[in-house]
Amino acid sequence: MPESRLSAPDIAVALDALAPRFDVDVLTECDSTNARLLTRAEAGAPSGTVIAAARQTAGRGRMGREWYADDSASLTFSLLWRLPPGTALGGLSLAVGVAVAEALRDLGVAQVALKWPNDILRDGRKLGGILIELVSGSANAAVIGIGVNVRLPSGLPEEVRRNAAALECDVDRNALLARLLVSLHGVLQDFASGGFAGIRQRWLALNAHAGATVRIISAFVPPVEGRCLGVDNDGALLVETATGVQRIISGDVSLRAT
Ligand code: BTN
Repeated sequence: MPESRLSAPDIAVALDALAPRFDVDVLTECDSTNARLLTRAEAGAPSGTVIAAARQTAGRGRMGREWYADDSASLTFSLLWRLPPGTALGGLSLAVGVAVAEALRDLGVAQVALKWPNDILRDGRKLGGILIELVSGSANAAVIGIGVNVRLPSGLPEEVRRNAAALECDVDRNALLARLLVSLHGVLQDFASGGFAGIRQRWLALNAHAGATVRIISAFVPPVEGRCLGVDNDGALLVETATGVQRIISGDVSLRAT
């Protein structure tokens, strides 16, 4: 596939029958697509609004970290999704991980897996990340931010580069973004009707650490070490430790295979 610039009309063509479900805005540069979309969401933007940016100057990562990307290195976008009132949001970020990983696999990207809660791995290294932020003042509205490394950004700090992966191929970004949106559309519909429970088996099939010994590190509680049993219906990680099965809920924790 030839390298391409992001273009809203080309994304609409690639979305085909689902084009009316999305309203895609492409920016040359912004601080953070999540930050921009949160502002629009608070002003009433409809579900399906998407902001994609060729360059972010202050990309946000999980746990207050920065998301590194430079020109053409990353596909960075955010999607606003308004879930039906009363939808339990537990496991939403894991469901989004399933949508991204399945879309990449369908596009022929090999060795894609998920690291709890929602890192996208390729050959055990981080290929992409997901940051979900809830819209204040609107029940069940989420801004779903996704970054996928197309190439490894040149300014990537060495310690991040060591554990990072990229698609490293000529990719049609418009087709890639459209494919991710189509996959997200399907998974978010499944999530709205059956919660994470209906998607859990698909997450388990993508779990990079199934049966492996893992160590959960958190700033707030002592580390937990044990065998990764998978996740429950709420998306909590289940770890078999010497003192029994511990349930780790999503939060500021990181998971390391030992
Ligand atoms: C992580 O730390 O793994 C999450 C990274 C999420 C990065 C994406 S890029 C598009 C969107 N806008 C942001 O500022 N962050 C997310």
